Amino acid sequence: MKKACVIGWPIEHSRSPMIHGYWLKKYGIAGSYTKVPVAPDDAARFLADLETNGYAGCNVTVPLKEIAFRAAQRRLPSAEAVGAANTVWLENGEVCVENTDTYGFMTHLEKSAPMWREGAGPVAILGAGGAARAIVHGLQEAGVDRIIVFNRTAERAKSLARDFGPAVEAREWDARVDAPSWASLIINTTTIGMKGEGDLGLDFASASADCVVGDIVYVPLETALLKAARNHELATVDGLGMLLHQAVPGFERWFGVRPEVTDELRQMVVADLAAS
Ligand code: ATR
Repeated sequence: MKKACVIGWPIEHSRSPMIHGYWLKKYGIAGSYTKVPVAPDDAARFLADLETNGYAGCNVTVPLKEIAFRAAQRRLPSAEAVGAANTVWLENGEVCVENTDTYGFMTHLEKSAPMWREGAGPVAILGAGGAARAIVHGLQEAGVDRIIVFNRTAERAKSLARDFGPAVEAREWDARVDAPSWASLIINTTTIGMKGEGDLGLDFASASADCVVGDIVYVPLETALLKAARNHELATVDGLGMLLHQAVPGFERWFGVRPEVTDELRQMVVADLAAS
């Protein structure tokens, strides 16, 4: 029986076992996917012992993604671009890592707002953490040649811009309020809006009709940002799709089947989030 897990600290809140458990059942695979609490100091050891402990691999969540990146023997470009890894597998005894947040975000964006490339303006990214890096990497791979990053801590936005090259520009956090007037795609990668807390303060009255607005926050599913965008009849991209799609490559690596993100899976996770 093949075994995989998700590690984090804490890990109790993770929905990954629900997602992978759904697929194991759906595809009739005799495998397991569990949550394992691993403290930061123990993470490198846990990864080195994956094979000994019978794991095919694991997902890695906060705050262990950078540790997993450093601990790996082989890193895919998706992980190199972000400096963090969320998916681990073994190949010829080597610990290999990738970052599937880029894939998860871009796949969901293409599926839920396929017209996102049609707007003429630059892309605005709010936040400059790991999720912002994964998304900037995906947008650059997709050919976007102008990305403006806003972050509360200015140095972090500048550092992101330096790492990704001249197509990416860092601007002051306060300047984000003008983004609706020029951006064709606006993505929130900060935690603002999670559980209804905080407000990004964006007003979409000046946005063009083809502006697309996305959020990586998925609790609540319709954040204040997405609600404000919808009130102006803009297309929106919620945060749950990224979570579901980022799980696909890991499942395929560990269990040998490329799983499908279905409406049924989505509804199951939506119901679980609503119940918590
Ligand atoms: P992740 O890896 O999920 O992106 P992270 O690296 O902790 O998580 O990044 C969180 C992002 O949310 C950062 O851009 C952070 O801004 P700082 O770099 O200034 O910390 C942003 N963020 C969190 N709380 C915020 C707040 N109250 N106001 C503005 N930005 C906030």
